[in-house]
Amino acid sequence: MTVPQVSEDAEALLRIAVAAAAEAGRLLASWRGDERPEIVQTKSSPTDVVTEMDRRSEALITSRIRAHRPGDAILGEEGGQTSGGPAGDGSDAGQPGRVRWIVDPLDGTVNYLYGLRDWAVSIAAEVDGTVVAGVVEVPRSGETFTAVTGQGAWLHRGEAQQALHCSSGVPLGQALVGTGFGYDAGRRQVQGEVIAALLPYIRDIRRGGSASVDLCSVAAGRLDAFYERGLNYWDFAAGGLIAREAGALVGGLAGRTESTSMAVAAGPGLYQQLDTFLSRLNPERDGQRSQEREA
Ligand code: IPD
Ligand code: CA
Ligand code: CA
Repeated sequence: MTVPQVSEDAEALLRIAVAAAAEAGRLLASWRGDERPEIVQTKSSPTDVVTEMDRRSEALITSRIRAHRPGDAILGEEGGQTSGGPAGDGSDAGQPGRVRWIVDPLDGTVNYLYGLRDWAVSIAAEVDGTVVAGVVEVPRSGETFTAVTGQGAWLHRGEAQQALHCSSGVPLGQALVGTGFGYDAGRRQVQGEVIAALLPYIRDIRRGGSASVDLCSVAAGRLDAFYERGLNYWDFAAGGLIAREAGALVGGLAGRTESTSMAVAAGPGLYQQLDTFLSRLNPERDGQRSQEREA
C-alpha cells in the first residue's frame, strides 16, 4: 500500500501503525471456527466481553510497535498503559517529542463474536499528547482508513487509494446518524431515551457496532453524523483524526473536546444542529437500571 506523502515523523509512525494493524487484522480474520471464539473475561458488565483474540491481537500489535520503537508508551484496551523508555521503565515520559500509541486491538468485539462484518483494528500515534497519525483496519471489507494531521484522510483498498470527504450541507432532518450504546444498563437506559427523542427529527439511525468504523463512515460520507456517550480513548483516537481530516468537526457538546462523556462527529453545519438538539436532552447522564439485578 502507498501511503500519501506526509511529514517525516508522522509518516514513519503511520507506516508502523498500518503494518501492525494489517497483521493484527489478518490474525483476527484467520479465525474461522464454527463456534464463537471463547469469551475469556467480562469487563464492565456481563455484555462487555473480551475474547482470546482481543488479547492475541493486542499482544501482536504491542510486539510490532516495540520492535520498531522500544521507548514509546502504549495505551492498549486490554493491557492498559505500558511505558517505554530506554530501560523500558518510562523514565523519559516527560521528554519533548514523546510518542504514545493508542490501541484498540478489536473494536466491535460483539460483531466479531456474531460473525458480523463491522469490526476493526484501531491504532493511533500521539506526539506530546496530540494524535498525529491513525489507522482503522477493517478486514472483512478489505478497507484501511488512514490519516496524518494536516494531510487529509484516505481510504485504501489494495493498491487503490481515495481521499475522503465527509458529507456537507446536510440538515439534521435529512441526516443519517450513527450511534452506539455502552455496556452498562443504566447508561443504555438514558441512551435509549435520547434516541427516542432524536429519531423523529432525523433521516434514520444506524448502530454499526464499532465506533472506529462509525467515525470512518462519517469521514467517507457513509454516515452524516455520529455521536456516542461513554467511548474510551482507544475507540475514537484514530477514527477521530480520520473524521477530522476528512473535514468533519469532532468534539463533545457545547464546545468541549471529545471525551468519554460524549463524542460527536459531523460536517460543520450539522454538528451545530446536532449539538444543540442533543444538549437540550441532557444526554451526559446515566440511569439507575442494573442488568445484574434484573437478570
Ligand atoms: C465498542 C464498540 C461499540 C461501542 C462501544 C464500544 P469494543 O468497543 O466500539 O460500537 O458502542 O461503546 O465499547 O468493546 O467492541 O472494543
Ligand atoms: Ca472499542
Ligand atoms: Ca476492543
